[in-house]
Amino acid sequence: MSVVFSSFLLFFTIITKSADSSALHKDEYNTRITIFLKKFRKITVKALGEIANTLGIKTLNLRNGDPCHLGILKFDDAQNPESTNSIICDCTFNDSTTCHITELKLKTLSLPGKLPPELVKLQYLQSIDFCRNYLSGTIPMEWASLPYFTSMSLCANHLTGPLPAGLQNFKSLTFLGIEANQFSGPIPDELGSMTNLTKLHLASNQFNGSLPITLARLVNLKDFRVSDNNFSGTIPAYIGNWFGVQRLHIHASGLKGPIPEAVARLKNLNELRISDTTGINVFPILSSGAIQTLTLRNVGLSGPIPSYIWSMPNLKNL
Ligand SMILES: *[C@@H]1O[C@H](CO)[C@@H](O)[C@H](O)[C@H]1NC(C)=O
Ligand SMILES: *[C@@H]1O[C@H](CO)[C@@H](O)[C@H](O)[C@H]1NC(C)=O
Ligand SMILES: *[C@@H]1O[C@H](CO)[C@@H](O)[C@H](O)[C@H]1NC(C)=O
Ligand SMILES: *[C@@H]1O[C@H](CO)[C@@H](O)[C@H](O)[C@H]1NC(C)=O
Repeated sequence: MSVVFSSFLLFFTIITKSADSSALHKDEYNTRITIFLKKFRKITVKALGEIANTLGIKTLNLRNGDPCHLGILKFDDAQNPESTNSIICDCTFNDSTTCHITELKLKTLSLPGKLPPELVKLQYLQSIDFCRNYLSGTIPMEWASLPYFTSMSLCANHLTGPLPAGLQNFKSLTFLGIEANQFSGPIPDELGSMTNLTKLHLASNQFNGSLPITLARLVNLKDFRVSDNNFSGTIPAYIGNWFGVQRLHIHASGLKGPIPEAVARLKNLNELRISDTTGINVFPILSSGAIQTLTLRNVGLSGPIPSYIWSMPNLKNL
């Protein structure tokens, strides 16, 4: 497959050069372009076919043309008219002469297969959303070689095992969403090397152990969710390093109080949700004027609510 792919690139180089030097008659040039496009489509469609097969898609109807011909291939779903499932292709590469698939959205389709290592054949892929299927196995390390891969959304599937070693190789990832799977074991230290992460959703798995100190380096985080796990240790004080953080969800995570004083430094915090834990004896001092939701449920806190809370301008839920 990769051999075919490189020979197609080579072919493209040749036609471009010939066209530049006007060596080809216009008709001949157009014919070659058509051949090139056909070849391109065949390759894309073949890769998509393999990907579909691994995901457990029984039939991927590409009869209306491949997604790069249409710009976007939207899947109609009679059962779910709201569905936004689609394959998105960007045709603006090389002065709009080249198309590449950049996004795959295949949600709520009960897909029974596995995560396809074959995604690496779509080298310009930026984003996948495979939420709410029955996909099993784990995250293929092959994906780490996708240079533009920024968003991985795999929520509500049947993924299992520990998070694979080598996660730090997913350098450009800004969103890692693996909520509601059956991942287990500790959070690997390497996760702290993924410093481009802005959203990290780990909730509703069976993770245990304490959160590694390396996560202190995730200074671009805006949204951090670890609810419903079996972590040990306390809520780490380094969350105060995450200057831009807006959401912290720590319901029934296993992490114990106290709430680190460092939360007072988080000026953009708008949701702080902590529940079902112990060790929180003091109401946190918050300075973020952005707070909209503050949940402190079943944490054993008693005594009066400090009066500063009532002057928070945006607070909607307490
Ligand atoms: C643009 O064209 C060049 C020359 O044909 C090719 O090597 C390169 O991969 C193309 N770029 C993209 C983004 O497809
Ligand atoms: C963050 O992403 C950019 C762009 O993809 C990449 O060049 C850079 O190496 C990444 N940073 C880290 C620390 O991986
Ligand atoms: C995490 O859970 C596994 C079983 O899934 C267990 O073997 C291991 O000892 C646990 N680790 C900690 C730190 O609790
Ligand atoms: C969570 O971990 C504790 C030990 O740290 C263990 O006793 C308990 O069974 C675990 N709970 C789950 C749901 O795995």
